[in-house]
Amino acid sequence: FKSVGIKGLGYYVPEKKMTNFDFEKIIDTSDEWIRTRTGIEERRFAAPDQATSDLCVEAARKAIEASGIVKEDIDMILVATCSPDYLVQATACLVQKKLNLKSIPACDLNAACSSFIYGLTVATGMIKGGVYKNILVIGAETLSRIIDMQDRNTCILFGDGAAAAVVGEVEDGYGILSSYLGAEGEDEEVLRTPAGGTKKPNTMETIANRENFLKMKGQEVFKFAVHALPNATSQALEKAEIKAEDLFMVFPHQANVRIIESAAKRLNLPIDKFYMNLQRFGNTSSASVGLALGEALEKGMIKKGDMIALTGFGAGLTYGSIIMKW
Ligand code: ACO
Repeated sequence: FKSVGIKGLGYYVPEKKMTNFDFEKIIDTSDEWIRTRTGIEERRFAAPDQATSDLCVEAARKAIEASGIVKEDIDMILVATCSPDYLVQATACLVQKKLNLKSIPACDLNAACSSFIYGLTVATGMIKGGVYKNILVIGAETLSRIIDMQDRNTCILFGDGAAAAVVGEVEDGYGILSSYLGAEGEDEEVLRTPAGGTKKPNTMETIANRENFLKMKGQEVFKFAVHALPNATSQALEKAEIKAEDLFMVFPHQANVRIIESAAKRLNLPIDKFYMNLQRFGNTSSASVGLALGEALEKGMIKKGDMIALTGFGAGLTYGSIIMKW
């Protein structure tokens, strides 16, 4: 099999900042509570005229430029998101249109916050199988549109953003060495938007009950995450036959500093190996791992040959990890 990896990465966050102090003006919360419980200080919210596809396009243009290929060499677009522009019509098709990439296949993939890792894995499989050469994988969310700004348990956590990767053949021995994906399907409303799908279409009643917004049992997600994050990383390491201590850096899903600290302990790794930018961007779901990696690359923190892990968890509940030699 050929070696497949990320040929170019780009990210985008909207300009508008929402600080913890902005939330103090809207709901019964405090900067101190949010910072100590989550680590988050501010997040970005999309402008009124921006939807997920718009964030995707901004990130995609940067990724294509960084990859050194021309956009016409992209064979497929996969958008990883749980906040698409529309329920029917894939966001990836809107991205295809906006990038003027006629006729190439385009579809969405939803594994909540694990979507980017799922997407990279699907793309890698297709390229290794010889189906396509270059696949544009974009993790993007406009969560500000699906959160309940009256629910202090959730609204302070999330932000908007996008990260795009051109996935294709890389130098022999480099790129994605292993991937481990999993899901523990649950039907107890641990993390979901109850109404607006086919199970419970939106009515006056669902809207009055605010069931059209994301709901979460925070502590249950927390308990799941502190196991899922290190476990998925360990499984991917084992598949790649790499030791945890050989990891140069880990890019975890940016949900909560305490979850990441717990994962570091369980993996017996120093916390400074875990890249974190949730302080500035909050939880951007499908975009978060790519946003973290994109920033680290921009800062020149990663050089060729460094061993890194991408690792995440999300609604579903899902989890996944990728080990990559940069
Ligand atoms: N400001 C002030 N007080 C608050 C706030 C707030 N924003 N939110 C909740 N509280 C209160 C609660 O009402 C509760 O008060 P009570 O004791 O009087 O009932 C108290 O704070 C403690 O609430 P807990 O839920 O026990 O707080 P906890 O320490 O568990 O922190 C948190 C909550 C931050 C949500 C945590 O559980 C967490 O991070 N969970 C994981 C969430 C996560 O990772 N979600 C992302 C999944 S990704 C995806 O797929 C979309």
